[in-house]
Amino acid sequence: MSSPLRKPLIAGNWKMHLTLAQSLELARAVRDGVGDAASEVALCVPFTALALVAETLRGSRVRLGAQDLHWETQGAFTGEISPVQLVDAGATMTIIAHSERRRYFNETDEAVNKKLRAALAAKLVPILCIGETLEEREAQRTFKVLQTQLEGGLKGFAPVDLAPLVIAYEPVWAIGTGKTATPDQAQQAHLFVRKTCARLYGEGFASGCRILYGGSVKADNVDRLMAEPDIDGALVGGDSLKAASFLRIVHFQAPAAAR
Ligand code: 13P
Repeated sequence: MSSPLRKPLIAGNWKMHLTLAQSLELARAVRDGVGDAASEVALCVPFTALALVAETLRGSRVRLGAQDLHWETQGAFTGEISPVQLVDAGATMTIIAHSERRRYFNETDEAVNKKLRAALAAKLVPILCIGETLEEREAQRTFKVLQTQLEGGLKGFAPVDLAPLVIAYEPVWAIGTGKTATPDQAQQAHLFVRKTCARLYGEGFASGCRILYGGSVKADNVDRLMAEPDIDGALVGGDSLKAASFLRIVHFQAPAAAR
């Protein structure tokens, strides 16, 4: 079970899905179904749905997040969205460095580092994604990849500045494939991430930093994942697009009962 120092966070990543009408319907259902869940809950929605979903979530305990941002506050960057614009639209969080951005849009650790700095400066809670491909895992390079992504992304910060940071471990081979990492595989990676954070920024930072697992988190596997000591929540793709499955994940069962 996650340490009492760390409140679990269940975040939905809607990716490039849903019309405005569908977004509204799903956001309402999540808002109305969240009840007294023990975890913090967030929806990371497409840019075009931010302002509308912000209205729907206003006054509720569900937080609103974006899925990416540009590092400049404004300027001639056609097609990009700045942290200031995200805050203006009602977001309080943002995903950074999702593997789909690293893979399809060539996002480098250097760009990730700039985005992280910009998000923190705008007081957006960053959810920094890291994770290895299947090829890297099979070549026994998982820890090396995680270490490089963490060192590159987190370069040059003071620990105090990183206090709001959330990390999401998302093995690329588990995303959208239905192949979830076993609780044991995920726990091993999370422990390595926490130890790396401790080495880079001290025990205090590492023991308070929430590390989410992402990659085929489903209503029927969340309880076992959340029973692991270093898994502090989930970043959910496909199963966040249906209220029933996402709400079941939000209301994951107390770890002790899941074992
Ligand atoms: P799936 O839950 O669809 O595997 O997606 C995970 C993910 O990429 C969340 O960011």
